[in-house]
Amino acid sequence: MYYSALTPFNKTLHPPIPHHHPKLITTIRSVLQYNRRPQLAGETPRVVVITSGKGGVGKTTTTANVGLSLARLGHSVVAVDADVGLRNLDLLLGLENRVNYTVVEVLNGDCRLDQALVRDKRWPNFQLLCISKPRSKLPMGFGGKALVWLVDALKVREEGCPDFILIDCPAGIDAGFITAITPANEAVLVTTPDITSLRDADRVTGLLECDGIRDIKMIVNRVRTDMIKGEDMMSVLDVQEMLGLALLGVIPEDTEVIRSTNRGYPLVLNKPPTMAGMAFEQAAWRLVEQDSMKAVMVEEEPKKRGFFSFFGG
Ligand SMILES: Nc1ncnc2c1ncn2[C@@H]1O[C@H](COP(=O)(O)OP(=O)(O)OP(=O)(O)O)[C@@H](O)[C@H]1O
Ligand SMILES: [Mg+2]
Repeated sequence: MYYSALTPFNKTLHPPIPHHHPKLITTIRSVLQYNRRPQLAGETPRVVVITSGKGGVGKTTTTANVGLSLARLGHSVVAVDADVGLRNLDLLLGLENRVNYTVVEVLNGDCRLDQALVRDKRWPNFQLLCISKPRSKLPMGFGGKALVWLVDALKVREEGCPDFILIDCPAGIDAGFITAITPANEAVLVTTPDITSLRDADRVTGLLECDGIRDIKMIVNRVRTDMIKGEDMMSVLDVQEMLGLALLGVIPEDTEVIRSTNRGYPLVLNKPPTMAGMAFEQAAWRLVEQDSMKAVMVEEEPKKRGFFSFFGG
């Protein structure tokens, strides 16, 4: 018996994340594409900060993939790269050459807000907004209030208020983090199943709650079933018990993530879909419906003793 990370099941229609089984993958693809669209819950714009505490656990990957999944589900999305100085959401999305203006220039009066918004040609209802130029420092006085102003300005645009404003938060819990969480009313906490990431996630949860953000859901990223089976990695159930947060998604470790990062082509656009891509897509579904999933304990099927078992197969 082992605690499964990749076989959670959900109370609603969302399909379970499959093991590598071609039949299951086909079924899930059809459920995701043809069955129904998720119902948007809550008031718009849903302002969601994607945060973690620890760096490098997958915040930007999550913002890009969940953001594009939301756009594919028909929602209008503005993804804000609030990782000042070390921004890389534009790279992951393959939009780096199209960012001419940033929020800093909008605030200085050097350009209009719509000039700083970069529309994705693949999914025009997805737009990217960067806070500042790479390796630049933020002007004095730029803080949470500036982001609240930005969210208010996005609400009253001519083309209408976006359904989702996703804020890609910088690592750590200093000024950049505080600025990024200020306008948010929901948070997605990304963690990996290791103790350092969990400790930071726990600290961040406390800070988010202090800031009045009650709706906090977690994504457990880079999960490896083989390591969980070998008891070399914490299970998702363990993570959930330690953090006590609702689970938005479980993303397997997948080399395709790195490949897609380097190509500037987010995973969820891949054809055929990959395991991690489908998991991000499912997380987006739950985000839309303000739903969560359950990690469950599964019994391993006893091995069938066939003809080759005679030879130790
Ligand atoms: N599920 C996954 N499988 C394999 N690699 C992954 C996965 N998720 C993220 N990565 C890789 O981990 C690295 C860090 O990811 P990412 O930049 O999204 O993290 P981050 O939390 O935004 O980092 P930072 O704190 O520096 O902003 C990237 O190289 C990415 O490709
Ligand atoms: Mg990042």
